[in-house]
Amino acid sequence: MAEKVRVLLSEKEVDARISAIGEQISRDYAGKQVHLVCVLKGGSFFMCELAKRITVPVSIDFMSVSSYGGATKSSGVVKIIKDLDEPLKDKDVIVVEDIVDSGRTLCYLLELLQQRGPRSLALCTLLDKPDRRVVDVNVDYTGFEIPDKFVVGYGLDYNQRYRNLPYIGVVELD
Ligand code: IMP
Ligand code: MG
Repeated sequence: MAEKVRVLLSEKEVDARISAIGEQISRDYAGKQVHLVCVLKGGSFFMCELAKRITVPVSIDFMSVSSYGGATKSSGVVKIIKDLDEPLKDKDVIVVEDIVDSGRTLCYLLELLQQRGPRSLALCTLLDKPDRRVVDVNVDYTGFEIPDKFVVGYGLDYNQRYRNLPYIGVVELD
């Protein structure tokens, strides 16, 4: 193991921010039911924590797309590995992502999901790296804007490791 992980956002900071987003969503969707679409695998930890803090009725579904190989750079190729189980027609959908980086994955995904006729479609991401944006994406809820560093934890991986860290860390290669 040649890399080290330095804490960027502590567990306490992340939890507090997720609570605030949960409250915001509960206010924005008062009187409605929200359908959370989790983008696997990275979005799963965030979605579970977020869902627990939303006070309006919630349903969930999962999908998996691939845009990255084992490395830290985007290939630009987006492929559906696992599609949603349920239709989105007339649902108030919030896509829950771990991070928006180049924006390629989300741009593709949001267009695809929009074609399925949701009543509304919003995007919620735990992290945003605005400096890295290549494609324009409208983000409705952001946990934290972070600098252009490769991060892990809270669902984010480096070669499939570190997803289980309860905080966000920066990977430092020796
Ligand atoms: P985008 O299409 O470039 O926006 O890439 C989004 C996806 O790339 C995310 O959902 C992550 O899976 C992955 N990714 C981007 N930046 C990082 C990072 O810093 N750490 C871990 N995964 C990342
Ligand atoms: Mg992801």
